[in-house]
Amino acid sequence: MKNVLVTGGAGFIGSNFVHYLLQEKQDIECLVNLDLLTYAGNLDNLLRVKDDKRYVFVHGDIRDKELVNQLFDKYKFDTVVHFAAESHVDRSIMEPDIFLTTNIVGSQTLLEAAKRHWNLEPDNKYSRSYLPGVRYLQVSTDEVYGALGKTGMFTETTPISPNSPYSASKASADLIVHAYYQTYGMPVSITRCSNNYGPYQFPEKLIPLILHNAMNNKPLPIYGDGMQIRDWLHVNDHCSAILRVLEKGEPGEVYNIGGNNERANIEIVKLILSVIGKSESLITYVKDRPGHDRRYAIDNTKITTQLGWAPSYTFQQGISETIEWYLQNSAWVERVVSGDYMEYYSRTYKNSAVD
Ligand code: NAD
Ligand code: TYD
Repeated sequence: MKNVLVTGGAGFIGSNFVHYLLQEKQDIECLVNLDLLTYAGNLDNLLRVKDDKRYVFVHGDIRDKELVNQLFDKYKFDTVVHFAAESHVDRSIMEPDIFLTTNIVGSQTLLEAAKRHWNLEPDNKYSRSYLPGVRYLQVSTDEVYGALGKTGMFTETTPISPNSPYSASKASADLIVHAYYQTYGMPVSITRCSNNYGPYQFPEKLIPLILHNAMNNKPLPIYGDGMQIRDWLHVNDHCSAILRVLEKGEPGEVYNIGGNNERANIEIVKLILSVIGKSESLITYVKDRPGHDRRYAIDNTKITTQLGWAPSYTFQQGISETIEWYLQNSAWVERVVSGDYMEYYSRTYKNSAVD
């Protein structure tokens, strides 16, 4: 792994991954972060690496074929880690269209560019020979499996059965990735992770939203009865799992990522309130999200046994550190919430495609 393309590296998990990879892999020569800087992308997340000589930021769209091909020509990527996506279920309910173009068409644009640059005979449809050591990794989600009842867990062979426009778009992208493996023999991997928490998460998602509202004594919206269950994993553990799959994963395989940490939403909210010393009277039950998946739970046997990966955070440690991070970085939260940074980007990047 020498020249790496990370897409969506200004988002929550992508920015944590950029930090993680540059720290863990000193031998990387170049890491290009291609990000459109939508409302969810924030260059403040990357201040610590912006002067690292190996790091390059490119402002652009994964759906822009010409740009993506230019980047492959210029940087000779051997690894693609594809995070860029529209990622919020509630937004997908209101505006599904962009989820389809970004999450599905964007993934296919990257796959096609990778195939053209990595296949030894790109114009021969029968060629299944690739440059040595190349890998395309699709960062997917457990939400593609749909919802669980009270028991059971998602394994990699659980049928795909997505329920929201977001999860349907992620599942579609996974199928395209699989098609590139079957049809063209592309060396791909798919990871399906459970809900992440940690620094730099946009405060529209449950944990940072609750923290922000609670700190400002605002109501805490709990959908339905608050008994929906998610399987929470610290973002650094997600990053270490992705690196493990890049280095040890078998081409064409799917790996579920999770840390056996199922919690009901209301439990998480009450925990946050108790840590920061705020009253439960802020909790406000609101109408449920349409099509709301009741429970997710990841069976991580494959990645733990075949690749020897294990999470390093306990939930107690991870959530305390995360709460502390948001309290210490209230300026980051306020800037994101106020939209200041969006105004700044629209001025800075008005006429630019590539940095
Ligand atoms: P995020 O919304 O915080 O970040 C998405 C990033 O993608 C942003 O920086 C945004 O600017 C960028 N982006 C959006 N459209 C783009 C485009 N057309 N071209 C280039 N860049 C674009 O998302 P996240 O929570 O960090 O999730 C990252 C990935 O991980 C997604 O693919 C998501 O489906 C997956 N995932 C997330 C979770 C989770 O709990 N957050 C869990 C499992 C999987
Ligand atoms: P979210 O962070 O949006 O992640 P996802 O929908 O991808 O799992 O939501 C996590 C859970 O919290 C989910 O069951 C929906 C619920 N939720 C609320 O109850 N209130 C809220 O304001 C939000 C954003 C989420």
